Amino acid sequence: MQYIPPSNLRGHDLAPLLASRGLDLDWFTEHDFDPHSTANVARNTYLEAMAKVPFHYRSAVATLPQLRAWIDDLIAGALEAQADRGSPIASITHGSSLLLLGVTGVGKTHEAYGAMRELSISGVYGQWQVTTAADLYAALRPRHGIDSEAEFRKYRDARLLLIDDLGAERKPTEFTEEINFRLINHRYEHHLPTLMTSNVEPKDLAARLGDRVISRLAEMCERVAMKGNDRRRNAA
Ligand SMILES: Nc1ncnc2c1ncn2[C@@H]1O[C@H](COP(=O)(O)OP(=O)(O)OP(=O)(O)O)[C@@H](O)[C@H]1O
Ligand SMILES: [Mg+2]
Repeated sequence: MQYIPPSNLRGHDLAPLLASRGLDLDWFTEHDFDPHSTANVARNTYLEAMAKVPFHYRSAVATLPQLRAWIDDLIAGALEAQADRGSPIASITHGSSLLLLGVTGVGKTHEAYGAMRELSISGVYGQWQVTTAADLYAALRPRHGIDSEAEFRKYRDARLLLIDDLGAERKPTEFTEEINFRLINHRYEHHLPTLMTSNVEPKDLAARLGDRVISRLAEMCERVAMKGNDRRRNAA
């Protein structure tokens, strides 16, 4: 793993994020020159994750207890696998998934990026792919010069995947249904941790995503219903 000098992280508002996991800035910014130290793993993982966090959510901190418990489980699983294999660093490879549900503007995307940031500074390595469902379908539409299957595998096989706004399209098509099924089925079969958000009401989820996707989601992930109103309107 590349050694990241702590000075590269000046200017990041890290203290509140580290505090959310009971860590402090001294640990994160210690100059130990050890590429396998947990602090160096955290610096690498944090910078990789932040390259995928949109500017608006750059300071997001997760607040939902279920999300924080999910992070704890992923970390525990990675540490267990590291002990079994005697690996120099702990990496997330398997785990359960989580589905955040709630109305528009309640804070689902904020929580999701908060979770991604929190996991990134834990000292356990985890590589994320991030997409909205709509962007995923657009990226996978067959077109000249694009290997859609290679693009699909990038998301299908991601160690950690965030799918924002699942089921947001008003009218599912055969194409979106097939993508949803192939993606969720693969991640279900391989126990690949997936964080999903949706503003579809629970009672409408089956109609939007199909019974076979819902059945797999029921087994592979915890559903968390977020309560509240549209924070964007409140702010305005
Ligand atoms: N816990 C929080 N603390 C501070 N700001 C928050 C928090 N949660 C959400 N916000 C802010 O509220 C706004 C709406 O949040 P967010 O974008 O996460 O909503 P959403 O549920 O993903 O909405 P949509 O369904 O439209 O995608 C954003 O500006 C976000 O930064
Ligand atoms: Mg959102």
